[in-house]
Amino acid sequence: MMEKTVLINCSPKKRLSVSGFIMKCQGLMIRGQKEYFQLRTPADRKPILNALKDAGKVVFVTPLYVDSVPSHVLPFMKEMEEFCIENGLKLKVYVIANNGFIEGKQNEPLMQAMENFCARAGLTWCGGIGIGGGVMLNVERIMIAVMFGLMLLNMGLRAVQGGNVLELVRSFGFSLLQLLVLCCGIIAYALRLAVHINKGTDAGKWYTRIMVPSFIFILFADIFFVIISFFQGGIFRGWFSRFQPDAKCKIITR
Ligand SMILES: Cc1cc2nc3c(=O)[nH]c(=O)nc-3n(C[C@H](O)[C@H](O)[C@H](O)COP(=O)(O)O)c2cc1C
Repeated sequence: MMEKTVLINCSPKKRLSVSGFIMKCQGLMIRGQKEYFQLRTPADRKPILNALKDAGKVVFVTPLYVDSVPSHVLPFMKEMEEFCIENGLKLKVYVIANNGFIEGKQNEPLMQAMENFCARAGLTWCGGIGIGGGVMLNVERIMIAVMFGLMLLNMGLRAVQGGNVLELVRSFGFSLLQLLVLCCGIIAYALRLAVHINKGTDAGKWYTRIMVPSFIFILFADIFFVIISFFQGGIFRGWFSRFQPDAKCKIITR
């Protein structure tokens, strides 16, 4: 019988996290019993630990934060370390990390942190993949949904007015293919990783990225962040303001 696989989305985002999307896609390629979790708050920790009791493999799908593991994941790792030692769990650990910069290799320090965690917790480190330009996966899935919606709308209009519906399907298929080409490295590595997860073998560490030349990626990322800063940051807001810590951000003095 195949061992149960626990997949953990480590993004703190409630919606539209790249890690959540990758976790669901990777899950489709994994055979046997699977359980999906999101690790956002301390309340999420216990159900995950309980699920680990009868699991054989665990897949952490995480964003890269400040060149490492997101800080809200660290206390969970500490708890998991103690839990695994107490219960004598010998899980196989895989990691899929994604980051904002274009190079997937940026995830190497995170991978090393996870490998060290496995060594301390008595777990088997089985490697994984690091994905650069992860944000683009979100852009792509939104674009696919929008293009699909537009295709259906146009189909409806053409059905009323008359016209070539097949042409619309062909053009949607072509756009889809273009987006898939951008992800070909990620898809290939995810398939390769799935083979290892299914066999329970060491996958090694592999790094890939969205297949966009760096100078184009950086140009679009810059435009994106300038636009976002107008909406979320204001134009000159904060340039001369007094420092006012909000209620949530208390300075602790001993
Ligand atoms: C607080 C914070 C720190 C980040 N640090 C890095 C970093 O060091 N290197 C990097 O390439 N991307 C960094 N990013 C970008 C995220 O890794 C990237 O947006 C990722 O796709 C988010 O995945 P998610 O949607 O699953 O949360 C950072 C993002 C945030 C919010």
